[in-house]
Amino acid sequence: MTGASVWTATTMRAARQVLRGPVTQAGFTAEYIPRGFLRHHPVLISDGDTHDDQRRALGRLFTRDVVRARYESHMRDAVARWLDDVPAGAVVRADRLALHYAVDVTRRVVGLTESSVTGMSRRLEAFFRQPPLDMTRDDLGRTRRQWAQAALNGLVPIAMFQLADVAPAVRARRRTPREDVVSHLIDRGYTDADILVECVTYGTAGMVTTREFIALALWRLLDDPALRERYDEADRAGRLALLYAIIRDEPVVEHLYRRVREPVTVDGAGELAPGTLVDIDVGATNADDAERAAGEAGLSFGAGPHRCPGQHLAMMETEVLLTALLRRRPVAVTAPRILWHDLVAGYQVREFDVRLEA
Ligand code: HEM
Repeated sequence: MTGASVWTATTMRAARQVLRGPVTQAGFTAEYIPRGFLRHHPVLISDGDTHDDQRRALGRLFTRDVVRARYESHMRDAVARWLDDVPAGAVVRADRLALHYAVDVTRRVVGLTESSVTGMSRRLEAFFRQPPLDMTRDDLGRTRRQWAQAALNGLVPIAMFQLADVAPAVRARRRTPREDVVSHLIDRGYTDADILVECVTYGTAGMVTTREFIALALWRLLDDPALRERYDEADRAGRLALLYAIIRDEPVVEHLYRRVREPVTVDGAGELAPGTLVDIDVGATNADDAERAAGEAGLSFGAGPHRCPGQHLAMMETEVLLTALLRRRPVAVTAPRILWHDLVAGYQVREFDVRLEA
C-alpha cells in the first residue's frame, strides 16, 4: 500500500469497469480490519465465490418483493412508535427521529431485537465518533496517537454493541431461529465473532446511511415547495422516483474506494497497475450525462459484487416515513448543519428541527 498511486474515476463507464474488475474493497477502512480471528470472511471485505454465495443467500431477505410484503408492516409500526405520539405544534429533531426510525426498522430485518432502539442508536453513534482519516493516504494519514484514539473509540462501542445488542439476539435465535440475517448466519455456522462483524456492517451500513438520507430528503422537500407539491401529488412509484432523483444528485456515500489487484484497463486511464487506489467520485459519475440510463440511483448504492443489498429497504423506508411526516405539515425551524464524515465519505445532516403543524 505504501506510496501507491491514486486514480480518480469521474465517468460512469470508468467507474463501472473498476467496480466490476479485479479489485478489492478499500473503502470504510476495510484494509485495516483485522481478519485473523474470524472463521468466515466478512461480506464487506471478502471477494470471489464465497462472497457471491453469501450475498445470494442473504439477498432473498432484501428483494423488492420481500421488502414490500414483509417489512412494510415494520415501517408502519416504527412510524407509530416514533411519530404518531408527537403532538401537533411540537418541534422534533428530524435527524434524531430518522435515526430511531431507521434503527427500529433495520434491526428487525437484521434480527437484533432483544435490546432498546435508543440504546442501540447511542452505541452506533458512539462508534462513528472517529478521528479524521484520509482514505487516499498511507496509514489513512493518521498519527499514532490518532490510531490509538481510533482503536479506543471503535472498540469500546463495539464491545458494548456485542454485550447489549448482538449476544442476546444470537442467544434467542439459537433457541428459536427466525427469518432474519442473524438466524441465517447461525444456520451457516458463523461464530459469535463472525456474527458481530456482520452486525456491525449491517448496522452501520443500513442504519446510519438511511438516517442521513431521510434527513437530507426531508430538508430538500421542505426547502422546495414545488418539489414538495410534486411529492404530495404523486403515487408511491412517483414518490420513489423523486427520492431516487435526490439520492442520485446527493449520494450519501460520495466516494467508493477500490484497490487494483491485477492490471485492469479503464477508459481514460489506460492500464491501472496493481496496488493503485481508485477513488470513485460518485457525485461526478452520477452527473455524467452520457450514461444516465445506467440505473435510477446511479452509483449511490454502488455496483458490482459489493453493491448495496439494502437499496429497496432503504428507499421504501424513506418513502414511508417521509409520506407520514409530510401529512403532519412540518415546517423547518432551522436549516440543518451539514457535516462531513470521513469513514462513510459522505454527508451528515444534524440539528434539523421541524415543527409539526398538524
Ligand atoms: C440510503 C441508504 C443506504 C445507502 C446510501 C447505502 C449505500 C451503500 C453503498 C454505496 C454500498 C457499496 C459500497 C461499495 O461498493 O464500496 C453499500 C453496501 C452495503 N450496504 Fe448499503 N446503503 C444504504 C442502506 C442499506 C441498508 C438499509 C442495508 C441493510 C440493512 C445496507 C446494507 C449494506 C451492506 C451489508 C453492504 C455491504 C455489501 C458488500 O460489501 O457486499 N445498506 N451500501
